[in-house]
Amino acid sequence: MKLVQHFRSIPGLAALAAGFFCGMAPLSEESLWVSSLDLKQMSTGWNAAQADRGVSGQPMSIAGKKFERGVGTHAASKIRIDVGGSAKRFVAQVGVDDGAGGQGSVEFIVVGDGRVLWKSPVLTGGKPAVPVDLDIAGVRTLTLRVTEGDDGASHDHADWADARIIVKDGSPPPLTLPPFESIKLATKNFLLEFEVGEDGRLYQQAVGTRAEKERIQRVEESYPQAGDGYIWEPALQVVHSDGNTSTVLQYQGVTRTNEGQGRESTVIKMRDPAYPFNVSLCFRAHHDRDVIEQWTEIRHRESGRVKLERMASSSLLLMPTNLQLTHFYGDWANEMNPVVEQLFPGTKVLDSKIGVRAHQFGLPSFLLSLDGPVAESSGRVLGGSLAWSGSFQCAFDHTGQRVRALCGVNPFGSAYHLKADTTFATPVMIWVWSSAGVGEMSRKLHAWARDFGFRDGHKPRSVLLNNWEATGFDFDFDRIASLYEPAKQLGVELFLLDDGWFGNKYPRVNDRAGLGDWEPNRKRLPNGLAPLAKEAVRNGLTFGIWMEPEMVNPKSELFEKHPNWVIRQPKRELELQRNQLTLDLTRPEVQQFEWSVIQKTLSVPDVSYAKWDCNRYLTQAGSPWLRADRQSHLWIDYVRALYALMDRTAKTFPEIELMLCSGGGGRVDYGALKYFHEFWPSDNTDPVRRVTMQWDYSYFFPGMTLSSHVTHWGNRPLHFACAVAMSGRFGMDLDLAKLSSGDKAICAGAISAYKRIREISHLGELYRLERPHEAARGALNYVATDHSKAVVFVFQLKDGQALAVKPQGLDPEREYMVRELNPAPGRAPIPQEGKRLKGEELMRDGIVPSCAKALEACVIELAP
Ligand code: GLA
Repeated sequence: MKLVQHFRSIPGLAALAAGFFCGMAPLSEESLWVSSLDLKQMSTGWNAAQADRGVSGQPMSIAGKKFERGVGTHAASKIRIDVGGSAKRFVAQVGVDDGAGGQGSVEFIVVGDGRVLWKSPVLTGGKPAVPVDLDIAGVRTLTLRVTEGDDGASHDHADWADARIIVKDGSPPPLTLPPFESIKLATKNFLLEFEVGEDGRLYQQAVGTRAEKERIQRVEESYPQAGDGYIWEPALQVVHSDGNTSTVLQYQGVTRTNEGQGRESTVIKMRDPAYPFNVSLCFRAHHDRDVIEQWTEIRHRESGRVKLERMASSSLLLMPTNLQLTHFYGDWANEMNPVVEQLFPGTKVLDSKIGVRAHQFGLPSFLLSLDGPVAESSGRVLGGSLAWSGSFQCAFDHTGQRVRALCGVNPFGSAYHLKADTTFATPVMIWVWSSAGVGEMSRKLHAWARDFGFRDGHKPRSVLLNNWEATGFDFDFDRIASLYEPAKQLGVELFLLDDGWFGNKYPRVNDRAGLGDWEPNRKRLPNGLAPLAKEAVRNGLTFGIWMEPEMVNPKSELFEKHPNWVIRQPKRELELQRNQLTLDLTRPEVQQFEWSVIQKTLSVPDVSYAKWDCNRYLTQAGSPWLRADRQSHLWIDYVRALYALMDRTAKTFPEIELMLCSGGGGRVDYGALKYFHEFWPSDNTDPVRRVTMQWDYSYFFPGMTLSSHVTHWGNRPLHFACAVAMSGRFGMDLDLAKLSSGDKAICAGAISAYKRIREISHLGELYRLERPHEAARGALNYVATDHSKAVVFVFQLKDGQALAVKPQGLDPEREYMVRELNPAPGRAPIPQEGKRLKGEELMRDGIVPSCAKALEACVIELAP
């Protein structure tokens, strides 16, 4: 009875039973011939694996001895068998098949759950078969491997003769598995696939392709290490404590943890077989958002320190066909200029070497489009964004066969000496996938960011007035207080006091002095900040304050007292930027000092908002605090200490809203942004430049994180400037009292329109409709997540025609009332004004806007 059951469930045994009744040597019902398994899953170096024959198809024989049963294969070869932990023994006789004509040399290896259980000597052609009889109790995956015996694969006909598995009575039948263990990380549409190779290393399937290969190539290694055979750009370069500059990482295992709400974390563990040196590739997959966060953790127990010279966060592989890279370069007041380029063989590097910020000259975020030029609503796109506010490197290593995107801290000058039993965690690389263009990619990334990328992502933002463009450094209590009333009258909700409120011995009346001396200036603000904040509140406004805790002017009491607290190189003349230096945050006293500045400033009663600025970057990266042989730690330790400070600020003052600023758009990355609510994209607030700049930032960052202020930059019509600012987090930086009554009415209208739409523009989904670069106009729309409302923006940059603009993402069945918000004085109403139209019709036929001439804009609400 038992026998019959087995025969039913194991086709191989059924065949065996047939043989038994035909008079073949009987086997106990507990034995299973390996040759009865599905041998298509067995990898071979030549031909296909044969059941009960040599690999060339002839009867199996080793040194003249014939075998009825067995598997004929060819080095290098591998088969993985799921024996489910219930098998007892593995038995075989192994050797080179006589079909090799006395030539060939191979090695047989039996592996149980990643551990080598048995290894033959190198066996050559004509040598008698060697018996194997192994206890495999408890083993779940049994792997049979044949290697080339170190002399190439020629004539390596290898026989697992008489190979059988003895299983426990009634246990489930062993089954073959794909030869390479694979690890899949999948979100809704994004798949990352890893495989363990013959050599125990971890390999990655190129993103966007499916496995179809028989052999894995070294170029496909998932996190390649320098020094042991990998010849392209490595992800990891290490000097071990004994001076060995090579590392080998072999797969150890994988753990997965369901974090709930569609999130799963996966940790792939690897280890160097010759050193107690471990690397974990860590992932967090967000199912619905198609976002995978990746970082790497490095740890060791060597006898001395290990030097990390290169330690990428991620090094994903893609196929080079049709692959295009979009990246963004710039400078102060001209951030975010897009460049699209095809990747060619060689290494394309995007990086910064400025230490305390990543951006200004180049954004640590990019787009890779897999189907030719990037498009809004078609084609596969992989977006990448490195969450790091220091020197970064994203290197695209095109080897001819693959493109590897190596992203992480910039290895430039950043060697890190890692103590035993300490984990080095790299910054997080955020990957987002879309199979339907960059529009969908952005919407998914924005949805992720609302929950994990910045603070309070589900709360619309207020209307802000900043005094910087209005007063610069020239103000006192009365001047600032005089701005409140007109602001309140126009509908402003929050006032932000900018630079210039501090310094006594060296008053901060210009950018040459006072930074570091964070006592309110007694002449300007005799009773400190509190009365100014109170006065704002009395006028119905909330109050915010500017600070730049990391910086110092040489002309300051702080510098006089602590010249050693700054980042500088010995024997070099101090190089100033905006007349200032950076404090050395690796020094504990500086950490304490900066925290006390932040704490004191944000503890002023009625302060509910702050702008954290950073107006220079590193050019002389030396720390008087760090030891001579640890100077290279400055780059990484600075940013880590900065994050600790930002984290403490966010946790101690959870109610205070924070703007991230860095001499314009110097810090635009998800590393710092997670402690903040918004960022200052650029000191350039010319609305014409902002139309394209905000478009480009919007690939990665939601509109509500983009501080967008109306100023006089570029002397553009105020109506146009207001419309552009309303598409982000709206603010004004104007002397409102000085505006004409017509301009005041435009601003008041814009503010009230913004208040109407901010639930949609801040919390809804973005559709980029018409790209403004080199075009006569740009257009975009936001749609509420329940599709009940939308708002369309049209920005006319050159004279053109009032062509219909076609919104996207509406509910085709729903009716929307069309209404232009804050129409410009003197322009005719739009033709569809006041009409109720179906989403389907609006998306198909579009809406004719009120703008056609350069520097006109039109904001249209679609509501129930
Ligand atoms: C930087 C900022 C500006 C302003 C000034 C103040 O340049 O980008 O917005 O705050 O500092 O000094």
